[in-house]
This record gives sequence, C-alpha cells and structure tokens, in this order.
Amino acid sequence: MESPLRQYLEKLHNSRRARFHMPGHKGRGTLSPFDAACPYDITEIAGADSLFEASGILAQGEEATARLYGSKATLWSAGGSTLCIQAMLALVCREGDLVLAVRNAHHAFAHAAILLGVRVRWMLPQNRDRGGLYGAVTPGEVEQMLKQYPQAKAVWVTTPDYLGGMADVKGLARVCHQRGVKLLVDNAHGAYLLYTHRHPMQLGADLCCDSPHKTLPVLTGGAWLHLSHQVPYTADQARQAMKLFGSTSPSYLILLSLEDCNGYLAGPGKEEFARLYQTVRAMRQRLEKQGVALLPMEGDYAKLTLDAPAMGYTGKEITGYLDSQKMDWEYADDRFVVLMLSPSNTPQELAALEQALVSLPKREPTAQEQVPYSLPPQRMELRQAYFAPKEEVPIGQAVGRISAAAQSCCPPGVPVVMPGEEITPQVQKLLQKSGKISLDVVQ
Ligand SMILES: Cc1ncc(COP(=O)(O)O)c(C=O)c1O
Repeated sequence: MESPLRQYLEKLHNSRRARFHMPGHKGRGTLSPFDAACPYDITEIAGADSLFEASGILAQGEEATARLYGSKATLWSAGGSTLCIQAMLALVCREGDLVLAVRNAHHAFAHAAILLGVRVRWMLPQNRDRGGLYGAVTPGEVEQMLKQYPQAKAVWVTTPDYLGGMADVKGLARVCHQRGVKLLVDNAHGAYLLYTHRHPMQLGADLCCDSPHKTLPVLTGGAWLHLSHQVPYTADQARQAMKLFGSTSPSYLILLSLEDCNGYLAGPGKEEFARLYQTVRAMRQRLEKQGVALLPMEGDYAKLTLDAPAMGYTGKEITGYLDSQKMDWEYADDRFVVLMLSPSNTPQELAALEQALVSLPKREPTAQEQVPYSLPPQRMELRQAYFAPKEEVPIGQAVGRISAAAQSCCPPGVPVVMPGEEITPQVQKLLQKSGKISLDVVQ
C-alpha cells in the first residue's frame, strides 16, 4: 500500500526547511510528550493538498480507503464522525426536510439537524428487551413510518449501538430503496466490521460514517464518510458539505494515522481481527459457563457488555472492582458495563480481564429497577426549540415544560429528551437518576 502522505511528511522533516507557516511550533516540539510528533504536525501548506478540495496526496489516501470499503468515494475527517454526520445531513437535506431517525441516535445527529433546520420524527424500537433506548428498529417498523411520512427524505439508523446491538441494515436498505428514500447509517462503532461483511457499505447503506478512532489504530478524531455507488452525490459535493462545518486546519497527524490505517486494513488487520473474533468467542463461552452475564454477541464482537444486575451487582460496583484490578472500561451505568476490546489489547490483558470477571464473587441476581421509556410528545421542531428564548429550571419543576436542549443520561450521547419535546415524568426520573439538577426549557 502506497503512503504518499507519510512520504511527504518524512521528506518535509528531513529537508530541515525553515518553516514560515503555521503552526507556531514550526515543527519543533517543546511540549512533552509531543516532541517526536511535532515535525509532522502541519496543516494545509503548499504541496500538502487540502482536505476539502483534495486532489493530491490526501485524495490518493481517500481513494485507497474507498477501495477497501467498496464505496464510490470515502472522505477523511479529522473532526470525528460528528463532522461526517453533519455532512451527511447537509448533502441529503435542505432546510425543512424531514428525516426519520431511530431514537438511539447520538446527539451529534440532533445537533446537525438543529444547525441545518432539518425536521426529525423519531422511531423507538418496539422489540426493546434491554430497557431504555436500546434495540434496533425492524424493516417492518421503518416501512410503517415511511407510509406515515411519505415525504421523508431519509432514514437515520445507528448501528452498532453503544451496547453492541445491531440493526438489519440489508432489510432497512430494501424498504428505504423501495420508496426512493436514502438510508443513512451512523456506524461510528463499526469501522472494523468490514472483515465480517457486516459493514453498512456492504449491506446497502447509501451514506455511512465510521469512527475508526474508536476501534482501529487511528488517532482520536480520525473518521470516514463513505458514499455508496447508488447515490447521485459526487465526492466534491460531499467535500463541500464537510467544508460547511469542518475546520480549515485539519490535523495532519490524524490524517497520517488514517493513511496508516489503510495499510493496516489491507495488511495485518485482517488476521488480527480474525484472531480477536476467535478469542472473544471462546472467552464469551467460558465466561458464560462461569455465570458472567453478557449481552449476546450480535456482530459487534469487539464489545463485551456485562448485565450487572443479572450477576447481583450494579454496573458501578463492577467498575469499582475493575478499577481495583487496574482496568478501565468504556462506559457503565446502573445496569450495564461496556468493555471495548481490540487487537491492540495484549493477550495478557484479555486473559487478566477474563480472570477478573470469573473471580467476581458470585451473588444472586438482583431485580433491576427499570424506568420505562416512551417517546416524549413533540411540541416544537428541534431547531425552533433550541433557538427559542430559554430559561433554566430546577428539574423538580420541569415536568410539562418543553426542553430547549438534548439531554442525555445513559448511554452517553443518546438523549432521552430532545429540544422541542415535553419533559415527561419518565424523562424527569431518568435525568434525576443520572444526577441532573436543572434543565434548560423553552420560556
Ligand atoms: C454512535 C455514535 N455516533 C457518533 C459519535 C460521534 O463520533 P466522534 O466522536 O467520532 O465525532 C459517537 C461518539 O461516541 C457515537 O457513539
């Protein structure tokens, strides 16, 4: 795999040219621990291409990523999937257009809709067996929504979700395409699904974002926006959409890590992930035999999600125990603990994790207090409520008021109430449980 960006940066470094351009450190690290990285930390200077008008060394790397994923075009982002989500909506929608979205959407989606004036109608999966907002909508549920809202421009799906749950992208693509509607997928957690043929680009999604920084060896902030062959948009149009929101100083360190990731995916990644898959599958079987309660593996095999009350604990108690074993976790609430694994975890770390989990003293399962969740009534459009005059009220007095903000409790980033929705007693209880004491409401 060619590495034109790496070659360019190495050449720049070795040339020892005087740098009369940004950034201010001039390639000389004075701040530990960045010393080694500083010579490569440039942004768009002459010869280094330009991310949102890419036609040189960056475009070559993007084309290589597109070939790996079988997409018509893939654009790199140094602004995470957040930037790709903004670009996806900007590409597909005009102000006032309607999108149908599954409610496990990350708040980056809601915020993009607010910025663009896109209207959203929400779908709550019916087959929710994990409480709260988890679970995927079925193609049948989406079909019903599309009948109810024939004017919808797109369907928005988040898969895998934060707990490792996955949607039937192929089935969803079928029902969307039957009605000429675009399927947009937030695959922030699933960049690595390429190898098991569960990546949305392999299953019929029209546009899709990945955050390889979450699961692959990429620096934080590195992400991809994939365009499928069936969409009418060109890579240049997508770049314009990225430009609407993106910084004019993308980090070349992040971009370099995206270029390196091409080589990783085409090279050792395949075998390393195949090994991880086998390791995790065997580890899950042993853990389950030992009474460790895990959510089933639906395809996102790099996640282990513990169902703490089924083992007589709260999620926070388990993370207290992991902490004592010098282990960190991705996310925990009363019920769940999410652990994210990757080939960069050493076999020793995985073995120690397994040992820690089976050594957790056995307890009787405890009943988990489930706060049921239903969609709050929508009183205003997202943008209208977000930009309306607002005030902060104590959470005890918030029921019946219209939320002026997206408020999340668990999982992180998935709002239980969106701007424009009425704060119901359920929402109040969920937010109180997560420690919120006041809320922004429309005046
Ligand atoms: C499902 C989902 N979508 C989007 C995002 C935003 O991605 P990024 O942090 O790469 O901007 C996240 C972040 O955690 C996420 O979990």
